[in-house]
Amino acid sequence: MAIKVAVFNRKGGVGKTTLAIILTQIALMNNKTVSAFDQDEQNSFNVSMSYLRDEPKFKDLFTLKTVLKKEDFDSSADWIIIDCPPSFNERTRLALRNSDFIVIPVRPDMYSTMMLTQIRQAAGDYKKLFQFPLVKVGFAGNIASRLASERITDKGYITIGNLPLYSTIPANISSGRKKWWSVGLQAHARKPFKAVYARIELLHRKLQELRRKKSERTNDAPDDYYDDPENPDVSTYGLNS
Ligand SMILES: Nc1ncnc2c1ncn2[C@@H]1O[C@H](COP(=O)(O)OP(=O)(O)O)[C@@H](O)[C@H]1O
Ligand SMILES: [Mg+2]
Repeated sequence: MAIKVAVFNRKGGVGKTTLAIILTQIALMNNKTVSAFDQDEQNSFNVSMSYLRDEPKFKDLFTLKTVLKKEDFDSSADWIIIDCPPSFNERTRLALRNSDFIVIPVRPDMYSTMMLTQIRQAAGDYKKLFQFPLVKVGFAGNIASRLASERITDKGYITIGNLPLYSTIPANISSGRKKWWSVGLQAHARKPFKAVYARIELLHRKLQELRRKKSERTNDAPDDYYDDPENPDVSTYGLNS
């Protein structure tokens, strides 16, 4: 079953697209098949993916030109990686509704972490829509980021890694034009991204296990896991432990 990840924050410039690109590259490097979805009008994930489309493991690329249907998310790929726009539009909602995880990059600043409160509030308003684990990636490096991390944990998010705020990410890597593992970023700089990738894989395995147990208990289809009226506040499903 595909690992479905929507990379989202209502704040722009926090590293959503960069993370989506690098996760795609790591998956391909690990011999996993990937379907990539660009839901942002900025189109930069799509442009970056055009450099990876020749990779044999690259399966599908969905751009804004495609009107997406729910079935498009039932891909047989190992990973589905969706780059969302910095807004709660219909495309975002479709992406979030059809993902296992939202990965929310935040920077250690008030405005990108403020969005976490908003997303939680939206989760209250749209229970059914947002009943899946919320996951975030933070940027490590200074006191502000540590304080931000503490606030985030309080809000019930799962921290899946701290990415260094690099002084620069070479444009050819950020754009996907060069395979990031072959140039530029040194091994120590790749490590935090690989750790985030591995953490998502692990959480997905746990999530599958939770779904399996739930379906054994109730005879529900495994995908009904999120629609549990008995347990409305299930944002992390115990995955935090
Ligand atoms: N970990 C990081 N360290 C330093 N710069 C980064 C990092 N991640 C992304 N960037 C840079 O930040 C800018 C915005 O990144 P981008 O991925 O386009 O954000 P978003 O998709 O959220 O708008 C780009 O110039 C990118 O190279
Ligand atoms: Mg972007």
